[in-house]
Amino acid sequence: MKNLLFSRFFLILYIRGYYFLRNIFKSHKKVTSSNKDDLQLDMENIPKHIAIIMDGNGRWAKAKNLPRALGHKAGVETIRRIIREGDRLGVKYMTLYAFSTENWKRPKDEVSTLMKLLVQYLKEEISELHDKGVVINVLGDSSRLPKDCIDEIQKAKEITKNNTGIIMNVALNYGGRDEIIRATRAIAEMVALGKIKPSDIDNEIFENHLYTKGMPDPDIIIRPSGEQRLSNFLLWQCAYSEFWYSNINWPDFTEEDLRRAIYDFQNRDRRFGAIKD
Ligand code: FPP
Repeated sequence: MKNLLFSRFFLILYIRGYYFLRNIFKSHKKVTSSNKDDLQLDMENIPKHIAIIMDGNGRWAKAKNLPRALGHKAGVETIRRIIREGDRLGVKYMTLYAFSTENWKRPKDEVSTLMKLLVQYLKEEISELHDKGVVINVLGDSSRLPKDCIDEIQKAKEITKNNTGIIMNVALNYGGRDEIIRATRAIAEMVALGKIKPSDIDNEIFENHLYTKGMPDPDIIIRPSGEQRLSNFLLWQCAYSEFWYSNINWPDFTEEDLRRAIYDFQNRDRRFGAIKD
């Protein structure tokens, strides 16, 4: 009887010891990029501004033998999910590159599909976006867009202008170089009118003439689809942005991919040109 009690005692001790040590090793295990289930986001360090180059819609469609238009349509579905997830995580600004100043070079019917998708998206989503407190904003020169686009954008901006939730910047007919040239012209005009001296021109004055006036620079720029270039996106604003690339095409980009990008961002060492001790 005594022996039985002893062996039970040691068996329990052994099992407890095993789980105790296992938990210690588990809590020290480094979370690696392949370790998706273990992603632990630091909710105190969620990037304020995430900018996304929504690339790979065409390749996604091609791989499925579908017309490119369906790739863009699927891309819009991803926008819906990613805005929701960004908002849930507490991201303050999300900037989506929807149409660049260079995209006018695409076939007419593709340009028209993209414009129609934008109108459809705004019409279908505006009430949910408004309910969620999203603010719709456009970066770029929207005056060249079709009239129904301009009208829908105006309506969406007006409806959501007093909201206090996530700011959704849609970059439309946007180009970083074009933005810089416009700012330079406007500032040169002020100098010519004697309102400021050339020596007054500084970061603040310059930033006040950009489409992103009053917004923080993007903390992270995400580009799916395997391309690793900036394509004329937020050239001024990306000075200290972290870049995050992945091979996933935009229609396949998931909420988990967004969390992965944020997780990787939180593990980068941002020094902004300074030295850390
Ligand atoms: C890049 O894929 C994607 C675009 C140029 C357009 C992105 C636009 C949308 C997703 C829809 C419209 C926007 C809103 C806000 C509703 P690509 O065509 O260059 O893909 P590829 O490189 O694989 O050909």
